[in-house]
Amino acid sequence: MQISQLIKSLPKAELHLHIEGTLEPELMFELAQRNNIQLPYASIDEVRKSYEFHDLQSFLDVYYLGASVLRTRQDFFDLTFAYLEKAHEDGITHTEIFFDPQTHTKRGVLFEDIIMGIADALAKGKEEFAISSYIIMSFLRHLSEDDAFEVLELAKPYYKYIKAIGLDSAEVGNPPEKFKNVFAKALDLGFLTVAHAGEEGPAENIRNSLELLKVQRIDHGVNCVQDDKLLEELIYKKIPLTICPLSNIKLKVFQHMKEHNIRDLYLKGACVTINSDDPSYFGGYLADNYFECQRHLNFSFIELIQIAKNSFRASFLSEEEKLLKM
Ligand code: HPA
Ligand code: ZN
Repeated sequence: MQISQLIKSLPKAELHLHIEGTLEPELMFELAQRNNIQLPYASIDEVRKSYEFHDLQSFLDVYYLGASVLRTRQDFFDLTFAYLEKAHEDGITHTEIFFDPQTHTKRGVLFEDIIMGIADALAKGKEEFAISSYIIMSFLRHLSEDDAFEVLELAKPYYKYIKAIGLDSAEVGNPPEKFKNVFAKALDLGFLTVAHAGEEGPAENIRNSLELLKVQRIDHGVNCVQDDKLLEELIYKKIPLTICPLSNIKLKVFQHMKEHNIRDLYLKGACVTINSDDPSYFGGYLADNYFECQRHLNFSFIELIQIAKNSFRASFLSEEEKLLKM
């Protein structure tokens, strides 16, 4: 069997996936037409050509523009179910997906339509593909903490659909301490927490996410190597890092896969996981990310099995569910 087939046949959990980042250009065009929205692209080809990024912000601009075609509950259902079909092909048996409500509510989309479209598709994914899932509601860190408090309030009738709270968007200039109070409220309400940290920002953001936001995992976290003591602590405490290799290359966190530090972190004993982040924009879904790690960083298949096991260990499944899935 080819290595790519072996990777697909390996049961895996995906823990760092923005549902808006799975919007393929074909569906973008279809939804633009359905909702009478004018896109600044003449063709699907042109959309793909615009996916040249030099940093996180240059990506976010294109990503928020793409998300503007999502308007109805049906749109969010179609988006999510299309991802689950790909996830199933890739051997994903559990997924924990982010959604960014503020990207949509700011345009007048109802919170109910966003979350129920996603939740309905996840329920269908469970039935058809036996993929279990959790939803992580993410705050946009370029907006204010008051704004995040408003979303947390808006989400109240739907808390049962939300497992955890996350933090994404532009890291530089928007450190975790900006959201200390709203995360404290979310923790009081019983949510788990995660945060993007140490993607473009400093190792200090990782430490402050752990200490102030009480996160269970760090999303990205590759800049932890800037601080030896922090790295030691991450390893000792088995704090999972949800690393997204293709994303890091597309956004120039590393210039080439050969330079990525995921294998060094793995060999040092960190609990690393492989994830796809925004697969439609970054050139590959989960199995592609595993494959690129194997191809350029010499991960053996046994090591990839260990990383797939880490993905379940680092998930929010119960200990019993983890054992059944691993
Ligand atoms: N980083 C920060 N915010 C994001 C990302 C990311 O990789 N993807 C979507 N929103
Ligand atoms: Zn991300």
